[in-house]
Amino acid sequence: MSYKVIERRMIVPNIHELVVEAPDVARSIQPGQFIIVRPNDKGERIPLSVSDFDAESGALTSFFQEVGESTSKLALLRAGDTIPTYVGPLGEATEVENYGTVLLVGGCFGIGSLYPIARTLKEAGNRVFMVSEARSTYLLYWQDRYKKLVDGVFTITRDGTHGAKGHVENITELLGREEIRPDRVIVNGCTFLMKRVSDITRPLGLKTVVSMNPIMIDGTGMCGVCRLSVGGEIKFACVDGPDFDGHLIDWDEFLARRKTYNEEETAPLRKSDVGTVHHGGCCSRS
Ligand SMILES: Cc1cc2nc3c(=O)[nH]c(=O)nc-3n(C[C@H](O)[C@H](O)[C@H](O)COP(=O)(O)OP(=O)(O)OC[C@H]3O[C@@H](n4cnc5c(N)ncnc54)[C@H](O)[C@@H]3O)c2cc1C
Ligand code: FES
Repeated sequence: MSYKVIERRMIVPNIHELVVEAPDVARSIQPGQFIIVRPNDKGERIPLSVSDFDAESGALTSFFQEVGESTSKLALLRAGDTIPTYVGPLGEATEVENYGTVLLVGGCFGIGSLYPIARTLKEAGNRVFMVSEARSTYLLYWQDRYKKLVDGVFTITRDGTHGAKGHVENITELLGREEIRPDRVIVNGCTFLMKRVSDITRPLGLKTVVSMNPIMIDGTGMCGVCRLSVGGEIKFACVDGPDFDGHLIDWDEFLARRKTYNEEETAPLRKSDVGTVHHGGCCSRS
């Protein structure tokens, strides 16, 4: 089986949009689930969130940051190419109910991956506000799409070229605003973004859902590589997640495990025929 690449373009520096035709996946995927893609027969398995999908055309859109060998191979794809692997939907869908008001916080590829979640939250009757966090204006994308969909769009840039200047800590001000005051926060993007937001909302007792992106190999719960501690229990991000309560994650352990893999476990696993190893998230770049 092969899958047609409809589009692959750099949407902002170092972040690429990948649109692939995979009708079976497009028909069954739910917001918050992910796929695993391989750029060629010898390529590694790369887990990616899905930012849009259309059951009729069979097209699915993801955004990926070029960080290493496999994402660099993905970045070489051209419209019309075919790829051997596009597996999904994987993981559990994001839980969506009518919570009242929901604040979405996205950075990097998370700006895109929150889009189908925003759509479903709106369909469920929520007021939805979107915050995009980036280093600078030139790294923001899909803001117009959000403006058409949600009740309010905010940006935080570290250099102050768009919206509030500084880090994601600026959401503290938004959380306090009478017209926003959320009942739930959902964060997608790099690990530090999710950790920081969870640290801000924990003392407020404000439920915060994060989409974890640890290293994965099989993506089916068999290898155990994506395990993390959540509320004192061992969970596998690929089958129990990727969404978890950000206040229950053992972030220190999570960050330490990723470091350990980078240095000691990555090389042998890369050489094994089990599959390949992936460093999820864009933490080291935040
Ligand atoms: C459920 C899930 C969903 C994901 N969704 C997305 C998505 O939508 N878009 C996306 O871009 N990524 C996503 N990721 C992360 C993505 O899978 C990895 O970035 C990718 O596998 C890296 O492969 P690589 O071979 O290019 O890099 P590697 O060779 O594995 O790593 C190269 C170097 O980059 C570092 N690194 C690895 N990942 C990152 C990163 N993301 N940012 C900064 N440095 C990094 C590593 O520590 C290493 O030093 C997701 C991961 C999971 C588990
Ligand atoms: S990737 Fe989750 S158990 Fe293997």
